[in-house]
Amino acid sequence: MLNEKVSKLINEQINKEMFSAYLYLDMSNYYINKGLTGFANWYNIQAKEEMDHAIIFITYLQNNNFEVVLEAIAKPTIDYADNKAPIKESLKHEQFVTASINAIFSAAVTVNDFRTQQFLQWFIREQGEEEKNVTELLVKYDWAKESLYLLDKELLARVYTPATFVF
Ligand code: FEO
Repeated sequence: MLNEKVSKLINEQINKEMFSAYLYLDMSNYYINKGLTGFANWYNIQAKEEMDHAIIFITYLQNNNFEVVLEAIAKPTIDYADNKAPIKESLKHEQFVTASINAIFSAAVTVNDFRTQQFLQWFIREQGEEEKNVTELLVKYDWAKESLYLLDKELLARVYTPATFVF
């Protein structure tokens, strides 16, 4: 039997993971609308991973005889100012999720719930990965802009050569 507070926090975490999926689908939609299908694909996969996380939390509770309650998923409401904004927003969101998982772990420590502590190890590692991946994407984004700058410079270097037309 899991501790009541710990179970409740895990049940709430299910909603946070499902919201994450929704948020990333929204970002994927944003990029589709911008014609950036690679970015859209990246966020679509991100959304699928979040649904996996939700299922893992559900299964854990069910394996411990807890009756899972699914709450409504909030509508993502962020308007993105530019193409980099969703990436910055997703880093902020992952940091929020990390804090949330840490809070569950902390509650499990307080009540000597060793089973949940062990279960959460995977998520603690996963959050490290998630934050690393998004941080790298932010760096790559700036490099890509750099490439655009290089391409722009290359195009600027084009010189006019008068046509040599022989009739
Ligand atoms: Fe399930 Fe991206 O944290």
